[in-house]
Amino acid sequence: MLARLYSVLLAVLLLQTLSHGAAEAKMMSKADLKAKQSAAMERFNFLSTTRASGTGVKNITFSNPRASEFYVDGTTIPEVDFDVGPSWAGLLPISNATNETRKLFFWFFPPGPQGSLDDLIFWTNGGPGCSSLEGLLQENGPFSWSWGQAVPTPNQFSWTNLSSILFVEQPVGTGFSQGTPNIKDEDDLAAQFVGFMQQFLEVFSELKGKNFYLSGESYAGMFVPYITNFIYENPGMLDLNTKGFWISDPSTSWDVIQEEMPAVNFVHKYESVFNLNSTFMAQIDTLADKCGYTNYSATHVTYPPKGLLPLPGKSTEGDRGCRVWDSIFEAALLVNPAFDIYRIFDTYPILWDVLGFPGSFPQTQVSPLYFDRADVKRAIHAPTNVTWTECSDVDVFPRGDASLPSGLTVLPNIIEKSERSVIVHGLADFILIAEGTRVMIQNMTWNGLQGFQTPIPDANFIVDGMGALGNTHTERGLSYFEVDLSGHMVPQFSPKAAFQIMEVLLGFRPAP
Ligand SMILES: *[C@@H]1O[C@H](CO)[C@@H](O)[C@H](O)[C@H]1NC(C)=O
Ligand SMILES: *[C@@H]1O[C@H](CO)[C@@H](O)[C@H](O)[C@H]1NC(C)=O
Ligand SMILES: *[C@@H]1O[C@H](CO)[C@@H](O)[C@H](O)[C@H]1NC(C)=O
Ligand SMILES: *[C@@H]1O[C@H](CO)[C@@H](O)[C@H](O)[C@H]1NC(C)=O
Ligand SMILES: *[C@@H]1O[C@H](CO)[C@@H](O)[C@H](O)[C@H]1NC(C)=O
Ligand SMILES: *[C@@H]1O[C@H](CO)[C@@H](O)[C@H](O)[C@H]1NC(C)=O
Ligand SMILES: *[C@@H]1O[C@H](CO)[C@@H](O)[C@H](O)[C@H]1NC(C)=O
Ligand SMILES: *[C@@H]1O[C@H](CO)[C@@H](O)[C@H](O)[C@H]1NC(C)=O
Repeated sequence: MLARLYSVLLAVLLLQTLSHGAAEAKMMSKADLKAKQSAAMERFNFLSTTRASGTGVKNITFSNPRASEFYVDGTTIPEVDFDVGPSWAGLLPISNATNETRKLFFWFFPPGPQGSLDDLIFWTNGGPGCSSLEGLLQENGPFSWSWGQAVPTPNQFSWTNLSSILFVEQPVGTGFSQGTPNIKDEDDLAAQFVGFMQQFLEVFSELKGKNFYLSGESYAGMFVPYITNFIYENPGMLDLNTKGFWISDPSTSWDVIQEEMPAVNFVHKYESVFNLNSTFMAQIDTLADKCGYTNYSATHVTYPPKGLLPLPGKSTEGDRGCRVWDSIFEAALLVNPAFDIYRIFDTYPILWDVLGFPGSFPQTQVSPLYFDRADVKRAIHAPTNVTWTECSDVDVFPRGDASLPSGLTVLPNIIEKSERSVIVHGLADFILIAEGTRVMIQNMTWNGLQGFQTPIPDANFIVDGMGALGNTHTERGLSYFEVDLSGHMVPQFSPKAAFQIMEVLLGFRPAP
């Protein structure tokens, strides 16, 4: 009897709770809802940064008369209804040879009012063959036109608030760049890029001697380390003071490490986002067990490491019968046709993208792409006879990239030679998975020791006004950051976190 009464009481209580909850939800007016959202945006936009640089309008002028050929008037950029400020863009050759036919396209921005005049950031996207103008327009440039946006908006988290920034479409074959690709590996790529930089610094000679930071994402996990290494190993070629580098969601290791091995663990971490059926889950679990993926990190990723880390299986791409990544992608697309390997949280509908990728509308529906418009090309001194695409159709390495993954070759050397080094990984990225980056780091020996000696803590990366937004750890000149909720393009999806991390690289904020 008592038990029965108790259960009736419980049911009544439960009903009350439910109806109370429902009533409250209805009571939130649209205005209240909007107010809460804008309060959140205000917190997000609030900046409590302590930048080393001064304030006041930066007046950068270039004495070489050739610089004026490249001047871009920030009030005349098509569709941008605010003043972006002065900038310089155009093509420059990769050498001063009179018969040189190869040219790279660049867009240079001086620092905004709060930025430092002592520093210069170089940014490159990956691919290989994807344009750095994507980074400019959708990640870290002074104006943004991101997925789903009807018009461009000022970028609150533009890296021009920190320093000068130079976006370059490289290697040859990328974007507006001119000439026939002929590089065979990353050292060739680095030599051509440094050749371009020499030409650039002749025209923009006021930038000579600046503190130089190289940065990029994705396949730039190859470009940036190899270019940085080339600069350190060929002192005197570049009149810049190279201080460090940033690579985010970088390609630094074998496919089996960055894609296959961590794929099933990743699906489990985000099980309710993937929403795959139990039959399929059981299949991939069996595969992961059989292929040595399930417990790979638990066994081998220790702090400090117990020795060099073995490959799971025999193939650097994943053994035959062990390539789970592709089947997971197929299965994810079945239940979520908008599934985005670059940011797994995306759902239907697919957002319109003014650059046509990966916001994957058929290209014809965004025609022409922003940088393929004649008026845009004219405004930025881009060649009008080139059809611009975000990622190149031609092979920028005609016979493939013969270089080994940077994590197995040049990364240790450039960490040792840099003042500061930053590796970043968005945790909602499925194309390159953070667990693989941890493996790469633990297998690498720099400054006398292998890997991190103490574990990467959880939830200790604090973003101003947002709280813990990931994990971070620094040892022997290397800072590693994992950003919660961020997809592959960290400056696009988590711009405030990216901005703070860039402050660390520039030495404007201590490593957490
Ligand atoms: C920038 O410098 C140039 C040359 O020194 C000068 O003519 C111009 O007025 C300056 N502009 C600003 C905004 O200070
Ligand atoms: C071409 O560039 C090289 C390397 O910067 C330099 O040594 C040489 O003097 C330059 N030649 C001409 C004709 O400018
Ligand atoms: C330019 O000429 C030099 C010397 O004749 C030759 O070695 C080089 O391959 C040429 N470069 C290009 C880009 O055609
Ligand atoms: C960047 O500069 C703009 C314009 O001066 C300013 O509104 C914005 O708050 C700055 N953002 C950061 C992150 O400093
Ligand atoms: C992985 O480790 C767990 C916990 O130690 C263990 O129960 C499981 O059997 C292991 N799986 C494989 C495939 O080794
Ligand atoms: C670890 O480094 C060694 C030596 O470079 C290499 O042979 C091995 O394949 C690496 N392991 C992984 C998992 O990348
Ligand atoms: C489960 O997922 C797999 C892989 O996508 C699919 O082939 C299969 O039809 C699904 N089964 C059910 C019942 O949804
Ligand atoms: C575009 O024009 C430039 C300059 O006239 C020329 O060098 C280049 O070969 C042309 N490119 C194409 C794809 O026609």
